[in-house]
Order: sequence, then C-alpha cells, then structure tokens
Amino acid sequence: SFLLILVLILAYLIGSIPFGLIVGKIGYGIDIREHGSGNLGATNTFRVLGKKAGLFVTVADILKGTLAASLPVLLSGDLHQAWTLIAGMVAAVGHMYPIFAGFRGGKAVATSGGVLLFYSPLLFLSMLAVFFLVLYVSKYVSLSSMVTALYTLVYTIFTGDAALMIIVAILATFVFYRHRANIKRIINKTEPKVKWL
Ligand code: G3P
Repeated sequence: SFLLILVLILAYLIGSIPFGLIVGKIGYGIDIREHGSGNLGATNTFRVLGKKAGLFVTVADILKGTLAASLPVLLSGDLHQAWTLIAGMVAAVGHMYPIFAGFRGGKAVATSGGVLLFYSPLLFLSMLAVFFLVLYVSKYVSLSSMVTALYTLVYTIFTGDAALMIIVAILATFVFYRHRANIKRIINKTEPKVKWL
C-alpha cells in the first residue's frame, strides 16, 4: 500500500542521514572518510574526531534505526510487527549506502542495534554487554561488532520468531560483508586496537 511505500522511503532517508559526515564537516571541517579506517561510522568518528563527537554519532546512528523501526507504528498503529523490522533493515541499507553522502556510508552496526532496541530493549542491553565484553578482551571494535552480530543471530534462533530471525540474519550478513577489510586486517594483525579501554 501507499503507506508501506512511504514507510520504506522514509526509513531509507532516515538511515541515509550521515551523522559522522555532518559532525565532521560542520564541527571540524573534515570528511572522516578521508581519515582512519575511511568508514562513515561511529567508530571512525571516535578515532578521527574524539570522544565527544564519537559518542554523539554513536547515539544518533543508533536512534536512526530506532526511529525507522518505529515508523510503521507511528504512521499506522495497525501494521504488522514485521514491518518494524523491515523498515529498520531499510534504514541499515540507508546507513551503508546513504543517498546524502555519495552512497559511501558505514557498516550498519549502530543502526542495526537501534532497530533491535526498538524491537526488544532487553535484547539490545544484552548486545551491549556482549559488545563491551569482547571489546574489553580483544580491543577490536570490528571483532566486537561481528561477535555481537553472531550472538544476536543465535539469540533470535532461540526466540523462534521467524520475522526476527530472517531480519537479523540479513543484518548480520550486512555487518560481516561490510567488515571484509577489517577481517583481513585482523588476520594480518594490522587492525588498530582501541586505546581507551
Ligand atoms: O562500527 C563499525 C566498526 O565495527 C568498525 O569500524 O572504522 O574500525 O572499520 P572501523
């Protein structure tokens, strides 16, 4: 229907808002994609611009997913729950391939997290716990993102919720696909570690 198409378009546009680029350009006069890992994401914002900008972009990128996932409910209370997940997935695609930033975006970690925050705050909290546990042990943000994606996939298999399972499998695939270069660097031992943990 028209409403669903509207939801999907809005979800893509919300996901496309390049917070890392906006904060870097306006606050610091730089495109973070020309520095650090070259990724347009929260991690590279921390790396290139520091904690204040990094924290802001982390929260903003998470909330993009949460807002997109809430669109079906906001615009029409009677839409099926699965649309929440589909809208969230479309926002993750927007984050990776943003129309407002030459389609060179991020790795869909924070935005996917925000989608699952809307779907299940408890799941989100457990994802945070897994993420920071792996980060504390390994010091690799990329590895923490991928392990968290796998953890989330295993969790959703136990819920028996088919829609959740399918969307999380797609999101986890996005996350792994976008971390190809990180995986190579981890294997070559050239992936940078975080210093602040
Ligand atoms: O949020 C993406 C993170 O897992 C890796 O980012 O910049 O280290 O490639 P980066």
